[in-house]
Amino acid sequence: MRAIICPEPGPLSALELREVDDPTPGKGEVLIDVAAAGVNFPDVLIVQGLYQFKPPGAFSPGGEVAGVVSAIGEGVDGIAVGDRVAAVIPWGGFAEKVCAPVGALVPIPDGMDPETAAAFNLTYATALHALRDRAALQPGETVLVLGAAGGVGLASIDVAKAMGARVIAAASSPEKLAACTAAGADAVIDYRAEDLKTRAKALTGGKGADVIVDPVGGPYSEPALRATAWRGRFLVIGFAAGDIPKIPLNLTLLKGCAVVGVFWGSFVAREPAAHARNQAQLAAWFTAGELKPLISARYPLERAVEALEALAGRHARGKLVVTMG
Ligand SMILES: NC(=O)c1ccc[n+]([C@@H]2O[C@H](COP(=O)([O-])OP(=O)(O)OC[C@H]3O[C@@H](n4cnc5c(N)ncnc54)[C@H](OP(=O)(O)O)[C@@H]3O)[C@@H](O)[C@H]2O)c1
Repeated sequence: MRAIICPEPGPLSALELREVDDPTPGKGEVLIDVAAAGVNFPDVLIVQGLYQFKPPGAFSPGGEVAGVVSAIGEGVDGIAVGDRVAAVIPWGGFAEKVCAPVGALVPIPDGMDPETAAAFNLTYATALHALRDRAALQPGETVLVLGAAGGVGLASIDVAKAMGARVIAAASSPEKLAACTAAGADAVIDYRAEDLKTRAKALTGGKGADVIVDPVGGPYSEPALRATAWRGRFLVIGFAAGDIPKIPLNLTLLKGCAVVGVFWGSFVAREPAAHARNQAQLAAWFTAGELKPLISARYPLERAVEALEALAGRHARGKLVVTMG
């Protein structure tokens, strides 16, 4: 099969397209013929050796796939060759075939095409876990989303609207903000051109936002926390800007607010029943037409590096997808 190979942690430009042996499913695994792979920020970090976990030796990046089961390992029940599945895996997805443990499989909602299925789970499930399980978002509350045109950001707009919230989207360019408005944002802030705290306060009548979704970190976290309402919830999701902000703790006291960590991967492992309920909710919303995932660009496997570079270079809107053809 063909696969994108990272020989060792380093620059994205060192990735190579290679012909390699097909993998064989082990105990508790299935082999998936990959139709498409979603591109996520952790893929960029893993290649560079900057993520929480590091693959041993050469590997294919790609943490999210959709396709068809083509072989089944020992001890697997309830899955058949030919089943359409999606999976969230640590790496291996930028390849024509990948093995995934049964526990990593996610059913594909009715009416969802393979490219959307490959781009849906990680960001939408993170957004729902963050907003429902960690922030207890209520209808009518206001959510401020940072990096709002990115994968987690746009999914957070979509999920927050489905939960009945008002959404303020903050991003770095008019083009990105147009994508946020198209996704349902009620108001937008260009945080490169405008003062984030001042605009967010103005858009909330001086009250501040009830919930902050922060997958960006860097220079935006502190002004967003300063624009948090009394009893607000500030969701720490990621640090796409690179820097992990250090926050003056007195801000939380003054606002009676909570700074809440979100770690979707650990939630899936520790709370499988709650995770299954969230998956069912997302599938129901999608099938009812309430969620509209955006795929802004598709790349054939041999151009997967360009997809990673676009994400790392802050150029993507919504999700990018690698297709196997
Ligand atoms: N905690 C969890 O469970 C969990 C789950 C999934 C993802 N994450 C994390 O969430 C973060 C976002 O993931 P994503 O898939 O949404 O990424 P993404 O699609 O690339 O979006 C990230 C956004 O961050 C903003 N940004 C600001 N400075 C940036 C920089 N120097 N480089 C790149 N982007 C920058 C960009 O928006 P603007 O240009 O508009 O500023 C970009 O759209 C990542 O750190 C990822 O690891 C965490």
